[in-house]
Formats: sequence, structure tokens, C-alpha cells
Amino acid sequence: MPRYVIKGGVPLRGTVRVSGAKNAVLPMLASTILNPHPCEIRGVPQLRDVEVMIGLLRALGVKVDGPDAGGVVRVNAGSLDTHEVDERLTREMRSSIFLMGPLLGRMGRVKIAYPGGCAIGPRPIDFHLKGLEALGVNIKEQSGFIHASTRGMVGGDIHLDFPSVGATENIMMAAVLAKGTTVIRNAAKEPEIIDLQNFLNGMGARIKGAGMDTIRVEGVSLEDLKPVSHMVIPDRIEAGTFLAMVAATGGEVTLHNIIPEHVEAVVHKLREAGVQFQHADDGLTVRATRRPTAVDFKTLPYPGFPTDMQPQMMALMSIADGTSIITETVFESRFAVAAELRRMGGQIKTEGRTAVVKGVERLSGATVTASDLRSGVALVLAGLVATGCTVVEGVHHIQRGYELLDSKLRGLGARIELE
Ligand code: EPZ
Repeated sequence: MPRYVIKGGVPLRGTVRVSGAKNAVLPMLASTILNPHPCEIRGVPQLRDVEVMIGLLRALGVKVDGPDAGGVVRVNAGSLDTHEVDERLTREMRSSIFLMGPLLGRMGRVKIAYPGGCAIGPRPIDFHLKGLEALGVNIKEQSGFIHASTRGMVGGDIHLDFPSVGATENIMMAAVLAKGTTVIRNAAKEPEIIDLQNFLNGMGARIKGAGMDTIRVEGVSLEDLKPVSHMVIPDRIEAGTFLAMVAATGGEVTLHNIIPEHVEAVVHKLREAGVQFQHADDGLTVRATRRPTAVDFKTLPYPGFPTDMQPQMMALMSIADGTSIITETVFESRFAVAAELRRMGGQIKTEGRTAVVKGVERLSGATVTASDLRSGVALVLAGLVATGCTVVEGVHHIQRGYELLDSKLRGLGARIELE
């Protein structure tokens, strides 16, 4: 099985270009099912999750070319062969659930297996299903499959119990071709939702309010839709991960293709830990000249500190000066990385949604295993700063969400090889 072999202790220096946002591309690709005209998405990263979503589209009869070397994907969903979503690929990736809204909008029905995904908690889909039912969808769950159908969706007023990113996106997509207006209250406000709104409006949808608590979708008809071409926003979590890596190893790196506002919560916390930042016109320079100071933080929906940066920050805090209290409010069990960091000498205690990290001078290299995407990349961060050699197994988890990670890090002077 492939693994990263890392020799730690090298300060990162140079420039790196951030790839397009995985969590913007995935719903965007699913939403192309709504449109009988060609869709072009630019800035698409080469990732396993993108390959899986493209595989799911092709299995439905959608024509997909790319992503080519320039990151362009061309989609033509002029004709669809089936409403049944491929079971094997669905189990591989939770984001397959994004296909429900578009398939119900375009075909009036969908059959899909309960989705799989990362090991970071049960991750139910009740908010998705309740939202779709509010639009007039009939849902039956039978032996691990969801059978959903509608004689034509009608706009509804939906209040989410929690600002779920996926449920907000799924309901938005389902509402595009519904009759009348849909209101989504307590909506998630992540930048990826604004990017999805821009993509959908680019193909002729009429959506307002993404990025705020309440989103309004005015239903349109199939005839209103048209070809669209769209550049994906940069991946704010990949950017935050590089910022945390520099904070750990020391050094100075300039990130290109970044929207500083999208990483504000992470920059704020790292600045508190003693890391310095400078805005360049087309990028952000991060500089670390000393051991980070321990800081406390709590993960929250956007614009709060992102849960997808929590494992990386835990790894950073494990070598910080002082003790850090981490509270994970978004997912039930997202401290899997703690056990692996302890094997590298980290002093971390976890209790429910709280972790207490007592910083040590040095982590020592070890063979560790990634259990999901973000805890995997947190172990790479730990290996970059540990003494000696660290072997990270389970690299396939990391390759779901980081394009060319080892070559980007080698470009910054890191001693990391994919074996
Ligand atoms: C999206 O997942 C992201 N994935 C996740 O990134 C991210 O961690 C998460 O949002 C939170 O920001 C994509 O965008 C593809 P949620 P999603 O619905 O939509 C509970 C990564 O590393 N919930 O906002 O699944 C859920 O269990 C991934 O890139 C329900 O109870 O997240 C969780 O505790 C990991 N019922 C909380 O809400 C539902 O129907 C937030 O989940 C849906 C969610």
C-alpha cells in the first residue's frame, strides 16, 4: 500500500499554489445533472473524490471529459440513462448524497444506497431527507437503499436544525426546478455554498442569500437553463493546512490562489500562536520564526474555526509551548488523530468533544496510520516537524482531498517521498 516517508526538521520555504476547492467541486459536479446544456468547470483538482463523483455521473449516463491538465471538466447531461446511483461508488464517498437533489429535479426519482465516507462520526442524512420531503418528495428506506420520488417538487419553507453544509446544498439543488419559491433558514454559510449558488445562477437558476442565514430559491423551468462555465474557488482547507505546516516547521512560504477572507479564522488563531502573516497582492505570506504558543480553540460552522482544520491544529499544538484546550462542536468523534500523535510522543487527553494537548519540545518519528482525510494530513504535519523518520500509512485517505501533496511539499524543501 502506498505510504509517505518523511524526514522531519526542515523549515518550509518558497511558494505554493493552492488547488481548487474539493468541497465546492463535488456538489457543483452533481448539480450538472439538472442542466441539459453543456457545463464547464475550471480549476478542478485531480483528487480521488473528484474521480468518484465523475464515475457516479458517467454511470448515470452523463458525458464527462476531464479534468485535463489545466483542471477543466466538461460535462454534458443532455440525456440520462437511469435514476439508480452506482452502489459501490456511493459506499466509497458520502458526497454521493449530493446526487439526490439534482436527480429528483431532473428525473423526479432516485434510488441510492446509504452513503459511506470518512470515519468521523455517524454522519446521518436526516436533514437532507426532511428538506426534500418538505419539497414534496416521497422517501422510502428499504434494505440499505433510499427510494425517493416526486410528481414534481413544489417550493417549501425549510428550517434546518443545524446549519448542515450538505443538506443546504442538496436542498438548494433540488429547489432549482421546483415550482415556486423555496426558503432555507438556518442555512450553512460556507464559501463553497456561495460558489455553488454562483454556478447554479450561471446555468440559469435564480438563487439569493448564499453565505447568509436564509437562502431563497425561485424555481425555474428546464427551458430557462443554459450552458455555463465557472472557475472554482481556491481550497481554503488546503490553504489552512499549509499555513499550519509552516507554523510547525518554521520558515516562510507564500501561498498563491487564495482568498484571505476564507482563511480568516485560521489566520487569527495562528497569529495568536505567534505566527506572522503578510498580504501580497496575489497571495498570502506566512512566516514562523519560533515555537508556537499554545492556544485554545473551538470548531464552529463558518465563519468560525473550521472543523476540517481541527486535526491539523491538534498536531501543531502537540509541539506548542503550553497547554491547549480543543473543543470539537461539529462532529461527534473527530479526535482519531490523538492516538497516533501520542505514538509520536504527543501528550493529548480526549474526553467527549474536548481534547487537552500539553505541548512537548519535540515529537519523534514513528510509523502511523491515517484513518480519514484530515487526521491523515495532520500526521504528515507532525512528521514534517518530528525528529527522525515518520511513515504515514493509509495515504489513500489523504489523496481524497490533497492534490499532489508530496510534490508541493518537496517544492517547499520538505523531505517527503511517496513510496
Ligand atoms: C461537509 O460535510 C464537508 N464535506 C466536510 O468536509 C465538513 O467537515 C463539513 O461539511 C462541516 O463543515 C463536503 O462538503 C463534501 P454537515 P457534511 O452536514 O455536509 C450532522 C472534509 O474533510 N448532520 O455540515 O457531511 C453531521 O453528523 C469533509 O473535506 C446530521 O445530523 O457536513 C455533523 O455532525 C469532512 N444530519 C454535522 O451535522 C444531516 O442530515 C455537520 O455536518 C446532516 C448532517
